[in-house]
Amino acid sequence: MKKATHFVCESCGYESLKWFGRCPSCGAWNTARQVTHVESERRRDVVEPVSLTGIITETKSERIRTGFSELDEALSGGFLPGQVVLLGGEPGVGKSSLALQISCHLASMFKVLYVTAEESAEQVGYRATRFDCRFKGNVVVLSENDPQAVLNTLDNSYRFLVVDSLQAMYSEQVGAYPGSVAQVRTAASLITERCKQLSIPALLIAHITKSGEIAGPKMVEHLVDTVIYFEGETNTDFRVLRVVKNRFGPSGEMCIFEMTELGLKQIDESFLIDIEEPPAGNCFSCVIEGSKPLVVQLQALVSKARSVSPRRVSNGYDLTRLLMLIAILERQTRLPLESRDVYVNVMGGLRITDTAADLAVACAIVSSLTEISLGRTAAFGEISLDGRIRPVHRIKNRLDALSKVELEKILLPAGSDLANGFRALKDVRSLLDVLGVRKVDSE
Ligand SMILES: Nc1ncnc2c1ncn2[C@@H]1O[C@H](COP(=O)(O)OP(=O)(O)OP(=O)(O)O)[C@@H](O)[C@H]1O
Ligand SMILES: [Mg+2]
Repeated sequence: MKKATHFVCESCGYESLKWFGRCPSCGAWNTARQVTHVESERRRDVVEPVSLTGIITETKSERIRTGFSELDEALSGGFLPGQVVLLGGEPGVGKSSLALQISCHLASMFKVLYVTAEESAEQVGYRATRFDCRFKGNVVVLSENDPQAVLNTLDNSYRFLVVDSLQAMYSEQVGAYPGSVAQVRTAASLITERCKQLSIPALLIAHITKSGEIAGPKMVEHLVDTVIYFEGETNTDFRVLRVVKNRFGPSGEMCIFEMTELGLKQIDESFLIDIEEPPAGNCFSCVIEGSKPLVVQLQALVSKARSVSPRRVSNGYDLTRLLMLIAILERQTRLPLESRDVYVNVMGGLRITDTAADLAVACAIVSSLTEISLGRTAAFGEISLDGRIRPVHRIKNRLDALSKVELEKILLPAGSDLANGFRALKDVRSLLDVLGVRKVDSE
């Protein structure tokens, strides 16, 4: 082992050979920490270059399936040998549960090394019993937080590795406190390097901070092949897994789980909507997150403002976009939204990014304000600043997904290549006619 010393900013991970008082990258003061980086001797080995034709390429069958078909699909078929996946999520969201369930599934085929640095081996055992893991003998639990000890244990007899979690890893050789950028990064790079050498796929668990970043700065994300985030309100049972980076497939893919006593269960989005007699303020939509069309239910509550500056709150839908939509609706339809609080929610704790949900959000807001129920209506279309409803991509896929739900009406952008039976809208003003709104008093 060779040791090298340098300075790392604890806030953003900026590195320098010299000490700095103020970080040149993020501007934070007194965040320079002297760290000793542990380099493995192997770096000095001379590596022979090889021709591309001499490199064995992946075949579909080489992918290791996790036991969750939707997760496999999101990962383009499963784990590749040597693929290192970072699983990030807020505390309590279900990271350890997912890692153990995958381990228990893979244990039916080969040996899995499960490194637990946060919980005791007994706690892992208790969870495995709760999940009714049938092949416990093949899941080898290592209760250890030293990355070097993990490297010493990991050998070719294992075909999958779990590290729970990176933040709990601590190496004395790195002169920094546990959970710091330097510790997390050293552990991640040492383990990643070994997994690549041995072609063992790995799942590294990392907590995310409130701002949604792993270990503060995104220092670990570039080290690994794939980054997946587990999202969800811990007060609901629904969890969404989103692929945010993938070297071996498309990113943006997602799948939905339900947390049960027996562990995480894959579900489809029909669990996240309530189609029975939707009251005013509800509208369905179809968004495309990753490659998958997803039927979602948007809800709005418009109420009299309690203060001079009305509240705008959004759960699952971009707040800036909501503010923009409210401004467009005010300007184009003259509806009295300036004196109302507006709350928007995507049902099931889902977070959506597709702007095609704009029209459904606008419909839900108008419906709540006017107290006119839209019934089983779905809407999709992007709304531009001038109030026009713009066509969105993959209309056919969206209509196919919506056809599985018993809807009465579908509103969509004019100019879309349509079959009969749908109502095509040109701009948000036409919404008032479609929704039967005559006039709303401003108070
Ligand atoms: N008996 C149970 N029945 C149903 N759900 C349970 C049960 N026990 C725990 N849970 C759920 O499991 C969640 C915790 O799962 P897990 O420990 O896998 O999360 P985590 O993301 O690893 O958390 P941490 O950040 O604390 O490590 C809890 O929030 C709870 O919802
Ligand atoms: Mg955990």
